[in-house]
Amino acid sequence: MTRPLDPRLAAAASFVNPGAVVADIGTDHAYLPLFLLENGIARFAVASDINRGPLERAKENAEKAGMTSRMRFVLTDGLTGLEPERDGVDHILICGMGGELIARILGESAYTRRPGVRLILGPMSSPEELRLWLAENGFRIAEEKLAESAGKRYAVLLAEYDGVRRSFTPCELLLGRANIENNEPLFRGFARDWLKRINTRIEGRRRGGLPTEEDEALRDEILTLPSMKDDCGSTGG
Ligand SMILES: C[S@@+](CC[C@H](N)C(=O)[O-])C[C@H]1O[C@@H](n2cnc3c(N)ncnc32)[C@H](O)[C@@H]1O
Repeated sequence: MTRPLDPRLAAAASFVNPGAVVADIGTDHAYLPLFLLENGIARFAVASDINRGPLERAKENAEKAGMTSRMRFVLTDGLTGLEPERDGVDHILICGMGGELIARILGESAYTRRPGVRLILGPMSSPEELRLWLAENGFRIAEEKLAESAGKRYAVLLAEYDGVRRSFTPCELLLGRANIENNEPLFRGFARDWLKRINTRIEGRRRGGLPTEEDEALRDEILTLPSMKDDCGSTGG
C-alpha cells in the first residue's frame, strides 16, 4: 500500500537518494519514511518524535504497512540520543516544524556536519531564521523546491555541511536564493504570500508607532526581483 504524499512531503522525498538510510525527526504519522521505504527509495528509516502519541501513530502505520523490520522508532528531542551512526543514517529529514526549531535541532548534533549527510528541511514558518543559521554555520543550501499544500506554499531545502560561511540579502534569506533563481511556477505566488505578510506587519508597526524601514526595504527588494517586475506592490488575491 502506497498512499500518495502531500506535495510538501513529496518535495522532501524527491531529495532522497536511492539506497538511503533516513532519520525522520518529528515523524508524527511516519508518512514520509513509509513512502520512501515502500517505494524502494530508502532501505532503512529511523523515525523519531518528541511526543509519545505521534510516535505510536508512526508505529501503527508502520505495522499496517509491514515495514517495522526496516524501521527503528525513537522517542526523543531532535537528534538527542538518536545514535544515527548505529544505522548509518545518511539523510536527516526535518519537516513540519518552525525554522528556529529546525536550526536548534541541527545545531545540537555534530552528526549533521558529517561529510555526505544530506539535510532535507521543510520549515513551516520562519524560513529566514533557518537559512540564516545555515549560512552562518557553514551549511550550503544545495537546492530548494516549492510545494503547495492546503492552499499554502512552502519551501523545502536540501543542505549539506561544507564549513563555508555565507551571507545573503534579507530577501534571499526569506525566499531562498535558489527559489529566486529557479523562478519555478509557484514562485510568484510564494513571493506574494510573503509580500502580504510583510505589508500586514508594516501596517501593524505603523499603527503601533514602530519603525518600518527594514520591512519596507525587504518589500522593495522582493518587488524588484525580475519575476515580480510587473507586480506593482499588489498583494491582493
Ligand atoms: C506538524 S508535525 C510534522 C509531521 C511531519 N514531519 C510532516 O512534516 O508532515 C510536527 C511533529 O514534530 C514533533 N516535534 C516537535 N518538536 C520536536 C522536537 N524537538 N524533536 C522531535 N520531534 C518534535 C511533534 O510532536 C509533531 O509530531
